[in-house]
Amino acid sequence: MAGLSVNVDHVATLREARKGRYPDPVSGAILAELAGVDGIVVHLREDRRHIKDRDLRILRKVVQTKLTLEMASTNEMVGIALDVQPDVVTLVPEKREELTTEGGLDLIVHKDTVAETVGTLQDNGIPVCIFIDPDPDQIKIAHQINANMVEIHTGIFCDAKTSKKRDQAFSNIVNAAKLAFKLRMGVNAGHGICYTTIKAFKGLNEIDEFSIGHSIISRAVLVGMDRAVREMLTLIKEL
Ligand code: PXP
Repeated sequence: MAGLSVNVDHVATLREARKGRYPDPVSGAILAELAGVDGIVVHLREDRRHIKDRDLRILRKVVQTKLTLEMASTNEMVGIALDVQPDVVTLVPEKREELTTEGGLDLIVHKDTVAETVGTLQDNGIPVCIFIDPDPDQIKIAHQINANMVEIHTGIFCDAKTSKKRDQAFSNIVNAAKLAFKLRMGVNAGHGICYTTIKAFKGLNEIDEFSIGHSIISRAVLVGMDRAVREMLTLIKEL
């Protein structure tokens, strides 16, 4: 069975809507862990629009499963990662004006700088995952620069408006997952996955872990974190 890491950024989004003290993403993470997730993910953005340094540092102390830090490949973020020591770093592209991460890190363009970041983090004992589009060239470069894992961007598939686009996008995901698996990298998948789109992944056993945020936190607002997480875990179990 594939694992589930829950991204709690959107608990912080709700807090930041009023710039207040609640809801606390740390509480969200603890409840998600009690419901059975395999890991907690946060994205510390350059502009700190949702997750703050304080959140990351407290999460490092309280998360008992696995803490994944999503971050841009910048000197500032590498310094924070070396200090905080998350269990995994997932490198993502970052644009200030984007609503959410819009696509994978382009390794054709950024190969050298990302390779340097991968080396620095690994030399300090932190395994590195790279968030990339489901494109064989991107997967091959991730392998060349020694990434421990890739996270395949599933957003194009999840957001596709026509069945033709959906089918094409999913077939790209299948091919990318199989190639990454063959190259002996860990295979994660994430972005835009909800309680409906998760069902498409049935039988794609190359995927080790799903990274899901928005849909679970949205459901948690209505039915509670425990039920929201358990419902997703049940769907993953059926894959
Ligand atoms: N994986 C990565 C690399 C992301 O940037 C995000 C969004 O923060 C997610 C997974 C989770 O996406 P969603 O919130 O759409 O489930």
